[in-house]
Amino acid sequence: MPTQVRMMHYSGESAPEDMWKITHDDLPELEEGEVQLRLDWISIDPGMRGWTTNKRSYMPPVTPGDIMRSFGVGEVLDSRSDAFVPGDFVTGFTGVQSEAVLKAGGLSKIDTNLAPAHHYMSGLGWTGYTAYFGMMDIGQPKAGQTVVVSAASGAVGSIAAQLARNEGAHVIGIAGGPEKTAYLRDTLKLAGVIDYKNENIDDALRREAPNGIDLYFDNVGGETLDAVFRQINYKGTIVVCGGISQYGDMHAAEGPSEYLAMVMQSIRMQGYTMRDYLDRIPEAFAALLKARNEGKLVYREHIVEGIENFPEAIDMLFSGANHGKLMLKVGA
Ligand SMILES: NC(=O)c1ccc[n+]([C@@H]2O[C@H](COP(=O)([O-])OP(=O)(O)OC[C@H]3O[C@@H](n4cnc5c(N)ncnc54)[C@H](OP(=O)(O)O)[C@@H]3O)[C@@H](O)[C@H]2O)c1
Repeated sequence: MPTQVRMMHYSGESAPEDMWKITHDDLPELEEGEVQLRLDWISIDPGMRGWTTNKRSYMPPVTPGDIMRSFGVGEVLDSRSDAFVPGDFVTGFTGVQSEAVLKAGGLSKIDTNLAPAHHYMSGLGWTGYTAYFGMMDIGQPKAGQTVVVSAASGAVGSIAAQLARNEGAHVIGIAGGPEKTAYLRDTLKLAGVIDYKNENIDDALRREAPNGIDLYFDNVGGETLDAVFRQINYKGTIVVCGGISQYGDMHAAEGPSEYLAMVMQSIRMQGYTMRDYLDRIPEAFAALLKARNEGKLVYREHIVEGIENFPEAIDMLFSGANHGKLMLKVGA
């Protein structure tokens, strides 16, 4: 039987244990222009907190009772579309479910000869593209600049940090705990690391960035963003990729109290989502694949087995229990 994970209430509007419901509903009949898929991989993203919050965002929230929105990768089992044949592997917004009937127009074919299917959920998928456009298009790091990345051992942050490192920047990665900072130092070869859970962030930034900060790739917001404002250089740039420290209650997210540094230091601060870059995905894919093939880009994946473990898995993003791109492996 197919399995679905449904969102039953908006975030914060029920007891956490009532938020999700596992169902086993039959698939709808396959209609013209649709494909039937077996899902193998489901991406778990901090952005899901936004999709489950009843608030204006870059796309409407999930409707209570509907299958939870997610990216996924799977194999086409049956097709009534000219775009796909059985055996094709595809990615797109598939929802948290083990099998699906979806409109072909929302899916893209992936090439599993270039990389295993799950890489299209991490370094070669939207995670990688998000890091690429945020860092390379908005941040534009230069050799010799001091670049700080928060949540730097995570899915997006680790790729963003490596892209800046590859440009010759002095990259400082911030992460929580000794295992993650060791990964940043020893595997990603970053110039500096900060363990924000065990160090004073202002002191650590002064130590690692004695000449100030030119570019900050922000994944967390909150205290860290304020600390960066206190040490950012004149005409510095802040790329606002996310603000996970504020996702606990998105109706009550707090902005930085030090934002007037934008005036004093002529700071450019820009947010974005992938909807700004949909027409440039091939560019990002080519750049990330090349870097990976040349040994200049690594990414780690944190795989949770079993679609029914979605509720526990999504919480890992907010406790920091994930080490790399978090995803569900659907089948055995
Ligand atoms: N703009 C876009 O289009 C876009 C797209 C994708 C993702 N994003 C954003 O990118 C960021 C990272 O997403 P990801 O998918 O790569 O997840 P991730 O970094 O792999 O996982 C989330 C990490 O955030 C850190 N974290 C959690 N709570 C925190 C807190 N209160 N303060 C500081 N750090 C905290 C944890 O790492 P530590 O153990 O180091 O704390 C956790 O492992 C998120 O803000 C997300 O919303 C934006």
